[in-house]
Amino acid sequence: MKILGLVGSYRKFGNTDVLVREALMSANEMGADVEMLRLTDLDIKPCKGCMACVFKNADCKIEDDANFFFSKLFEADGIILGSPIYIFGLVGMIKMIKDRFLQISTKPEKLTNKVGAIIAVGGAPGAEGTIMPGLASFFTFLGIPIVDQMLVYSHGPGEILLHEDAMKKANQIGRELVEALQDDEAKTKYIAGSGACPICHQNFLVLKDGVLECGLCHTKASPKIEKGKLILEFGKTELKKEEEIQEEIMEHIENLSETGVKYLKLKDEIDKRKGKYRNFTVKETKPPKTER
Ligand SMILES: Cc1cc2nc3c(=O)[nH]c(=O)nc-3n(C[C@H](O)[C@H](O)[C@H](O)COP(=O)(O)O)c2cc1C
Repeated sequence: MKILGLVGSYRKFGNTDVLVREALMSANEMGADVEMLRLTDLDIKPCKGCMACVFKNADCKIEDDANFFFSKLFEADGIILGSPIYIFGLVGMIKMIKDRFLQISTKPEKLTNKVGAIIAVGGAPGAEGTIMPGLASFFTFLGIPIVDQMLVYSHGPGEILLHEDAMKKANQIGRELVEALQDDEAKTKYIAGSGACPICHQNFLVLKDGVLECGLCHTKASPKIEKGKLILEFGKTELKKEEEIQEEIMEHIENLSETGVKYLKLKDEIDKRKGKYRNFTVKETKPPKTER
């Protein structure tokens, strides 16, 4: 059993880093092989949006460490994703990697039987923004169930070590990942609490045609007001089966492939309309000394 800890913070032995190490330590004590990847050690370039991975099932031509990252992800049974909050959300490095996920969504067979957990650290309550749905979508996009999550606060690098409850929770997360991999029931027992989506465990809701739903997985929520408070009840409470998730991912990829076929049919007309913008001379500003 392999557990991989991903650290989004640049700060070595900073708060995210030590929490992930604590979780890995407890997983290791439970008999798991553990490994840590500090994401800031990676060279990850932006997705170019060429869609060759989806339309042609081609390998990505960008030369960077994305394939190394994916090989580590495929190898792992349990994944701990740790990020500090930066400006109301997750760190850019994790978003850069998530943006490259289309190339692995065509290989759902390499993503089965895995579990994930989230460790997030902010400075102080109140500026969490989109951190939790941002991290949860790392797993939900890949169809990996989340077995637990934590959001704690501390400022200085490593200051979280003084917060015993936070360190205990990280330790618990390491154990829970191992337990979930040993027992299918433990895989699905975690629910973040009332008002949270039972699949994504977030309370990140969107209103669509007058109906509230989870902004990540579209599970519908029924709202009711009790004693002046909004109570949300989610229709579905059981986790999706592995095959169901794989089918959904493949369906998504097929839909994306169809957009390519449709685009090719419309390309001449689109190119004609682009002419107006090609003929409009606008100075494209570039940073100094940058050759592209
Ligand atoms: C550039 C930057 C932006 C930050 N933005 C936020 C924020 O929006 N909300 C918040 O709660 N904390 C914010 N913080 C505080 C960090 O999340 C906090 O210090 C955290 O403990 C850092 O974790 P680390 O030691 O693992 O890097 C920010 C810190 C930095 C350096």
